[in-house]
Amino acid sequence: MSHLRGPVVFGLTLLVAACSGGSSPPAGNVATAGAPEAPPPAANNVDTMTGATLAQFSGDAAAGQRVFLQCQSCHAVEAGANRLGPTLHGVVGRQSGGVPGFNYSPANRNAGIIWTPEKLFQYLENPRRVVPGTTMAFAGIGDPRRRADLIAYLATLHD
Ligand code: HEC
Repeated sequence: MSHLRGPVVFGLTLLVAACSGGSSPPAGNVATAGAPEAPPPAANNVDTMTGATLAQFSGDAAAGQRVFLQCQSCHAVEAGANRLGPTLHGVVGRQSGGVPGFNYSPANRNAGIIWTPEKLFQYLENPRRVVPGTTMAFAGIGDPRRRADLIAYLATLHD
């Protein structure tokens, strides 16, 4: 058996390195790396895993700006400013894959999603469930209130 150990560990390391794009992914992504991908919900389906809905929360943009600290290592909020991820300026209401000049994965580019508040609420719970194959190395935000606050903040990022 021991001869199997080396290649298995090496393979996992490669997979994690390939997914992280050079930055450290938040803990939680590693566990799902390599898991078979289930078909995503339909583009216009907004059901969450827990059944929570955005309408159950009022959404506090000031609190959401603090939640956004988890995003800002990869996402800027100024128009045209792409980092490891595309700018989130104007993201609410935007077509998925729609930022000019950003090199999306085919999964994100072809997702056919409109980023409505409700779809973002579903997506940010578990991005890989909603866009299987995304290169966004982010496990998701389980707390629905924090997601609702974050989306209230994202909705302020427009001209
Ligand atoms: C480790 C880096 C990283 C973190 C952290 C991260 N993202 Fe991303 N995000 C990306 C990348 C890379 C993409 C493009 C994915 C692709 O092309 O598959 C992306 C794509 C997206 C998209 C789709 C955009 C579009 O134009 O279709 C949204 C929405 C998004 N991220 C929101 C967020 C939010 C909100 C947070 C914080 C809760 C967050 N992301 C955290 C890297 C990150």
